Amino acid sequence: MEQYIINGGCELHGSVPISGAKNAALGILPAVFLCQDTCRIENLPQISDVHNMLDILSSMGAHIRYLNKNAVEINTAHAQNLPTPYEMVRRLRASYYLIGALLGRFGKAEVALPGGCDFGFRPIDQHIKGFEALGATVQITEGGIVQAEAKEGLVGDSVYLDVVSVGATMNIMLAAVLAKGQTVIENAAREPHIVDLANFLNTMGADITGAGTDVIKIRGVERLRGCTYSIIPDQIEAGTYLALATATGGEVTVTGVIPKHLESITAKLSEMGAEVIEEDDSVTVRRSKNERLHRINVKTQPYPGFPTDMQPQFGVLLSLADGTSILTEGIYDNRFKYVNELRRMGAVATVDGRIAVFEGVEHLSPAPVRAPDLRAGAALIMAGLVAEGITVIDEVRYVERGYEDIVKKLRAIGADIRLVSHPDGEMLERAN
Ligand code: EPU
Repeated sequence: MEQYIINGGCELHGSVPISGAKNAALGILPAVFLCQDTCRIENLPQISDVHNMLDILSSMGAHIRYLNKNAVEINTAHAQNLPTPYEMVRRLRASYYLIGALLGRFGKAEVALPGGCDFGFRPIDQHIKGFEALGATVQITEGGIVQAEAKEGLVGDSVYLDVVSVGATMNIMLAAVLAKGQTVIENAAREPHIVDLANFLNTMGADITGAGTDVIKIRGVERLRGCTYSIIPDQIEAGTYLALATATGGEVTVTGVIPKHLESITAKLSEMGAEVIEEDDSVTVRRSKNERLHRINVKTQPYPGFPTDMQPQFGVLLSLADGTSILTEGIYDNRFKYVNELRRMGAVATVDGRIAVFEGVEHLSPAPVRAPDLRAGAALIMAGLVAEGITVIDEVRYVERGYEDIVKKLRAIGADIRLVSHPDGEMLERAN
């Protein structure tokens, strides 16, 4: 079992290079099944979700070669359409993209229902609605395997999404690029990673327009060719470091970012009293530790609204604000599990369904806590770095799913954090 040991209470200063976007990478990697030439993917984040996805691709016969830490070449010419083992997909929600990609390439897919962070019921009915509109038959076996098949081939059609879903939008795009005719996705999600997947597919020769708006048109093409593509910077990783600097005080710059993608986050940080300075490809947050943060209300929404993946990190900021703040979760039923852990650190907060109310306190105190999921784990790191003294965080494997080199990046801006593990009860320190 691995833990983070944090000695908190310091201001943070310096810059953090932002890695490639997790949720773009997780759509782009399965997309390589759609092309039988070699694809070179650059700016690929080194995180366990990406490693898991590469393992799945490799188990199906994809040939993968690392060119450097953040670039791979993948060739799926000899890949086989094997059922993906449950053991490999259970921790990776994005394994559902294999359904769209395999349907597109082979006309058939058999993939175990995905796992991922537990925020309550997370159905995939909109993905299935899309595949069926394109002519596939889809069934879910008693063992939780999704079986999809398009015996006559996929044929484009219109799909109206009943809920704005990132996963369904990307999955339908994957299935549609090689289908006959035109597919139109209405009420599509608009997240930057959707635009990135569309750009990747278009670089391979697909014909997709409208990504980034709520109507996406995909005209099917005969075949795709290999390409070189660099993944966009991770909006949520950048937002997490900016929120962190706002919490601890100091001055931190995230570099290699697209400031436009961060607007909903930086607007809220400014409202709370942080100074935000945007340059072409960097954003700096500056805040004096001596001034209390202002109270605000936040509601999570699909892009360009405030992202649900920044909600726990803002829970920490609102815990420290001067007055009462309301945090409303607009996407998931159950994404407030971390609030109990924050309470153990002195936060005063109540949760009722999708609404959390924070009565801001002046200080958080160190305590042993457990990361209930990826972004909640990042939020607890923030809380630990604010609280003066030693905080121990368990279950850090969640954090490693989505933040590349987090310990190294934090230490570079002055944070006192270590990753330790306990093989056979003995505590061993590991460099990260
Ligand atoms: N939904 C349905 N039916 C569907 C699909 C979704 O009802 O068929 C509902 C979901 O239950 C949820 C809402 O629609 O209430 C939005 O879900 P969405 O499909 O957009 O989420 P997702 O594709 O499963 C991705 C990210 C999440 C991120 C959400 C929202 C990946 C691999 N995951 O999930 O990322 O929270 O979009 O932006 O891209 C994270 O990075 O920490 C993370 C959880």
